Amino acid sequence: MIQCEGLVKIYKAADLEVFALQGLDMNVEAGELMAIIGNSGSGKSTLLNMLGGLDRPTAGSLTVNGKNMLKMSERDLVSYKRESVGFVWQNNARNLIPYLTALENVELPILLQGRRKRMRALELLEAVGLTHRKNNKLHQLSGGEQQRVAIAIALANEPKLLLADEPTGSLDSRMADQVLDLFRELNRTIGITIVIVTHDPLLAKKVDRVVAIRDGKISSEMLRRKSYAEELEELERGIAAEEEDSHVEYAILDKAGRLQVPAAYLESIGVKDSNKVKLELADGKILLTSPGAPKKSVDPDNSEEAS
Ligand SMILES: Nc1ncnc2c1ncn2[C@@H]1O[C@H](COP(=O)(O)OP(=O)(O)O)[C@@H](O)[C@H]1O
Ligand SMILES: [Mg+2]
Repeated sequence: MIQCEGLVKIYKAADLEVFALQGLDMNVEAGELMAIIGNSGSGKSTLLNMLGGLDRPTAGSLTVNGKNMLKMSERDLVSYKRESVGFVWQNNARNLIPYLTALENVELPILLQGRRKRMRALELLEAVGLTHRKNNKLHQLSGGEQQRVAIAIALANEPKLLLADEPTGSLDSRMADQVLDLFRELNRTIGITIVIVTHDPLLAKKVDRVVAIRDGKISSEMLRRKSYAEELEELERGIAAEEEDSHVEYAILDKAGRLQVPAAYLESIGVKDSNKVKLELADGKILLTSPGAPKKSVDPDNSEEAS
């Protein structure tokens, strides 16, 4: 569904340049449900906006659903946004109208598209589990329910790809869980590809694959040891799931063999003010040591972290 290689996005404001994405590589399979995590300012929204065709990359290559996002004409971009992607934001106010009912809110975008509205809107509300609230005004719904209305609207055009930017950012943890359950169910039942951006590592743990962005580059990837379905089955059979090591974390090598080493690791081996490390192959492992460190003083506990 998504192939992204060496993606670069530079924002130019007056005489200032911001490198929001710095050569990012990432692939997403059709039918995947995955999360992107990273601190504020790491480039998550920038990436999502490129995926959704809201903004254009500066360089690199990006193919979404077979379409080249760098070369696409303005006209194709408009129909891409209308037909191929659905967006869910943290802030519902962007999508919803408070004095209309849940049903009317979902009908509205369908009306603009000139399709058979009422039936379709009801179907969509059913898909997000809100049939019983259809005649309630928006402001009478909880935050989680409002977010489900927003998701129903995002699904109105039957997009292949659903992009969600901090969709649970303003919800409490119980409601956040419900929204995530809904994403999982939609992913399973209609097979829609879903990319969720979040800064909440706990939320990210609930999907099978998590990609971490640092400074506009992918720095690591966490893969679930067991599929979510297997885990649920175990839960049902009464085996407690080990939340702590549900995922295995991998560092990401780019095409040129470059690797981002966490700052804390470098500090722990005594690399601070220098930009040099010693790189050695030892016993089938790659060893990173501080150039100042005498070879014998390499502590086995630390060498494991650095390898
Ligand atoms: N329209 C813009 N103009 C200039 N700089 C921007 C713009 N949008 C984002 N940035 C900058 O790009 C970087 C990445 O931002 P963003 O993608 O919003 O991060 P995140 O969503 O991970 O918090 C930040 O340094 C941000 O200030
Ligand atoms: Mg953001």
